[in-house]
Amino acid sequence: MKYTSSTTEVPDAPQVPRHVAMIMDGNGRWATKRFLPRVAGHVKGVEAVRTVVEACANRGVEYLTLFAFSSENWRRPEEEVSLLMRLFMTALEREVSKMHANNIRLRVVGDLSRFDDKLRTMIANAERKTANNTRLTVTVCANYGGRWDIMQAVGKMVAAHPGMTDFSEAQLAPHLAMAYAPEPDLFIRTGGEQRISNFLLWQLAYTELFFTDTYWPDFSIERLDEAIASYQHRERRFGRTGAQLAEKKT
Ligand code: IPE
Ligand code: IPE
Ligand code: MG
Repeated sequence: MKYTSSTTEVPDAPQVPRHVAMIMDGNGRWATKRFLPRVAGHVKGVEAVRTVVEACANRGVEYLTLFAFSSENWRRPEEEVSLLMRLFMTALEREVSKMHANNIRLRVVGDLSRFDDKLRTMIANAERKTANNTRLTVTVCANYGGRWDIMQAVGKMVAAHPGMTDFSEAQLAPHLAMAYAPEPDLFIRTGGEQRISNFLLWQLAYTELFFTDTYWPDFSIERLDEAIASYQHRERRFGRTGAQLAEKKT
């Protein structure tokens, strides 16, 4: 089991982020600005996903994680929720073969128990089909919440160590939904809000954060490269001083 933790050991700070995590926000406002229904923004947003997946694969990013539906998004009008579900299914139907042909692995994480059987079967099939692909792992977070993730991991950890009361990070981490991936190096949120909205709470401990006003449907390769360039100019100290880092380089 892969386990790396930015709080217990100093990880590598790779030039190209190994793991990019994104909150794809602003679909609704993109549509409203054009006098279109909000759903038009979600439909257009799928195109941006395609662009970003391809660009990340080409740039050597190993893990791309996309927040598609949060545990709080059920609060939206029923119509919008059911449209998002349908859109998710159509996107799976259309994109999985292409992803497979491009050696891309797909994972879907979140509390899938609230999805209907058909969608769950499609997800399982897509994951199975792409399981051995190695170029890029795309994780779609669906009905995901950072607190849900921590709580379900705690539950599994406690069950795995009956009677134990004292736990370490290393015992919890393998039970988190994304235990297969290193922690994100770069986080991008589109749409102008500067918040985490219950995304990967545990895993973002030492991630570099990038916020852009661009609405998700307008997110482009240029914007992605801007975020990566910003990341490359950061000094990732992981608790150490700048002087210590300079010393290491010489
Ligand atoms: C993000 O766009 C997509 C989802 C949350 C599913 P929004 O739908 O939140 O767009 P805004 O924030 O209302 O513009
Ligand atoms: C976060 O976007 C969730 C996704 C992008 C899936 P929201 O638009 O739901 O976030 P808040 O509620 O405005 O923070
Ligand atoms: Mg939003």
